[in-house]
Amino acid sequence: MTFYEVIKPELIKKKDISYMLILGLQGSPRKKGNTDYLLKAFMNEAENSGAKTHIIEVAKKNISPCLGCGYCEKKGKCVIEDDDMTREIYSLLWQADAIVAATPIYFYSATAQLKALIDRSQTLWSRKYRLNLIDPGRKTRQGFLLSIGATKGKNLFDGMRLTARYFFDAVGADFHGSLTYSMIENKGDIKKHPTFLDDVKEQVGSLLKPLLGRKKILFACIGNTCRSQMASAFAQYFAGDKIEALSGGSRPELEINPVMVEAMEEKGIDTAFRKTQSLESAISDVKPDMIITMGCGEECPYVPGATVKDWDLPDPAGKSIDFMRTVRDEIEKRVRELVESISD
Ligand SMILES: Cc1cc2nc3c(=O)[nH]c(=O)nc-3n(C[C@H](O)[C@H](O)[C@H](O)COP(=O)(O)O)c2cc1C
Repeated sequence: MTFYEVIKPELIKKKDISYMLILGLQGSPRKKGNTDYLLKAFMNEAENSGAKTHIIEVAKKNISPCLGCGYCEKKGKCVIEDDDMTREIYSLLWQADAIVAATPIYFYSATAQLKALIDRSQTLWSRKYRLNLIDPGRKTRQGFLLSIGATKGKNLFDGMRLTARYFFDAVGADFHGSLTYSMIENKGDIKKHPTFLDDVKEQVGSLLKPLLGRKKILFACIGNTCRSQMASAFAQYFAGDKIEALSGGSRPELEINPVMVEAMEEKGIDTAFRKTQSLESAISDVKPDMIITMGCGEECPYVPGATVKDWDLPDPAGKSIDFMRTVRDEIEKRVRELVESISD
């Protein structure tokens, strides 16, 4: 199958929306409760503004509490491998451009379900502070807190704000702001709050403003395991504030290449939790401004209105780490040039 065959013009939706992902963590175990309603209103507004959204119903996930064993501080991964945190959530946290943590106050803090997720983010904390690896999404990722409590004490949200601040730091996000509502107790109380919808609109606008309008660049190769992953990571790392970088493969493999991860770690850049995806999925609802292919000869993809460039780089998959390093350095050089040309 050629690149051209994969990117058929009719597959591309022409909506001018972004790749940006807003990840919501719904921390209340109560079905259709106040937190659920508030978070949905927030995400709805984000979608209307052009972002993609995904809500994790934390109470429905299998998340074991942190064991405090210190394994992640040495190995950079969690010793608990068979739950949803390792299977799915670490990767989503680092894929997200903004993370919205939503929780009712339980004893001046988050619910136990959300707290388990927060504690397990210690693995991401360890990768940054113990292994000195930088997740390239850090440059732009934002964190936002939504919280609700039944009483009206003036310190009601102090504990949760502190917890959120340290959680957002661990997952590589700036604490952008919060919306907190006291005296909200019974199901549906939030709907009667006089300003909450206006508050949501205002806060979503300020959260997304710096993230919208970036140049959308899709890096494409065949397996989406090495070249396009490195290129998109460098683009995010050097210019996440100007570029929305995405990658895809015409025949994506199941996993990213561990030698690529090692070579990027030598540069201090963390790609460990990245996933592969097909070009079809990459362009399913976004039209990129530019597509950069990694060596497709005459099979370069065609997307109406998008500039296509071919970097013509050799495929390092299955080769030595030295070969991977050579390709990595060439990609880094080209991404730097690309960023300069965009900044001019
Ligand atoms: C176990 C538990 C602990 C709670 N602790 C507090 C608290 O410390 N302070 C407070 O104001 N409300 C407390 N609440 C009330 C909830 O925060 C409040 O009812 C909220 O609206 C529930 O949100 P939900 O509908 O999203 O679940 C507690 C509720 C439960 C079930």
